[in-house]
Amino acid sequence: MSWDPDRLPDQHGRTVVVTGGNAGIGARVSEQLAGAGARVVLASRSPERAQATIDGIRDRVPGAALALVRLDLASLDSIRTAAAELRALGRIDVLVNNAGRTDAVRRRETTDDGLELIVGTNAFGAFALTALVAPALADDGRVVWLGSFATKLVRGDVSDLQSERRYAPFRAYGLSKHATQALGFELDRRWRAAGSARRSLVAHPGFALDRGSFPLFLQSKERGAWPVVRAAIDPDAEGGTFWGPHRGLVGRPAPAKPVASSADPAFGAEVWRQAEAATGVAFPIA
Ligand SMILES: NC(=O)c1ccc[n+]([C@@H]2O[C@H](COP(=O)([O-])OP(=O)(O)OC[C@H]3O[C@@H](n4cnc5c(N)ncnc54)[C@H](OP(=O)(O)O)[C@@H]3O)[C@@H](O)[C@H]2O)c1
Repeated sequence: MSWDPDRLPDQHGRTVVVTGGNAGIGARVSEQLAGAGARVVLASRSPERAQATIDGIRDRVPGAALALVRLDLASLDSIRTAAAELRALGRIDVLVNNAGRTDAVRRRETTDDGLELIVGTNAFGAFALTALVAPALADDGRVVWLGSFATKLVRGDVSDLQSERRYAPFRAYGLSKHATQALGFELDRRWRAAGSARRSLVAHPGFALDRGSFPLFLQSKERGAWPVVRAAIDPDAEGGTFWGPHRGLVGRPAPAKPVASSADPAFGAEVWRQAEAATGVAFPIA
């Protein structure tokens, strides 16, 4: 099906949660979906920054339905509290696991719960939130996970996801994105096996910054949001699929091919096992 990012299907009556909706790609995803009529809940570790983003969206999208929930993915306590607040909002149609640490953390750090900070936030934190929000997901609800081209540059070493053997900032980020992609595909396999109509998809924004202009390999975060939005609401997008810019790092939102490891069921099952063990959160599939 052709897809026009400027003419999205009507989303009135649907609720979307966007983690890290206060900034970057998450803010653009929130605005594009609000513009299509969805009620969008921004889950952010900074209510002040989220409120400023909400005010900006309301200026550009009159009548936008927006709410915010405080969420720090580096804290399981915060994740539990946020998930309870999100469940209380009623049916959730789409959860977009966008938030992630993208800044280089020079030395190995840990979350409040002792997990390596980058994978603990980006992958295991998103896993715990998804598991705890799942009871409120619509029967045909979706989860979208944010992958990255970094998975093509860093080897997906499942035996060292928490960088215990060796820490390097970009390696830690790449490992977190391997884990995130694998969790996204594994969730879809598990839902299918259980006969669920829910879907889990993975999207990557290519290379998206709000500064500079190199049309061949760098695009704006507005465009970086496009594959995420398509994975979230394209009625023809199937579970277990991967979405990205059609030219790899830039372009229109289109089907993409993930690195082999993240689509490998054995790799996915092992990352899932580690996510449950690390967070102590069991995912309610049925
Ligand atoms: N931009 C790219 O080229 C690119 C490429 C591949 C993948 N991605 C992925 O796309 C997603 C968004 O990236 P971006 O470029 O928009 O990054 P960004 O501008 O750095 O925004 C990251 C968002 O995640 C939030 N966040 C970070 N740590 C958090 C935590 N502990 N709890 C809750 N929220 C947290 C940030 O909140 P604060 O404002 O509070 O910091 C911010 O809202 C990430 O998952 C990233 O890995 C981006």
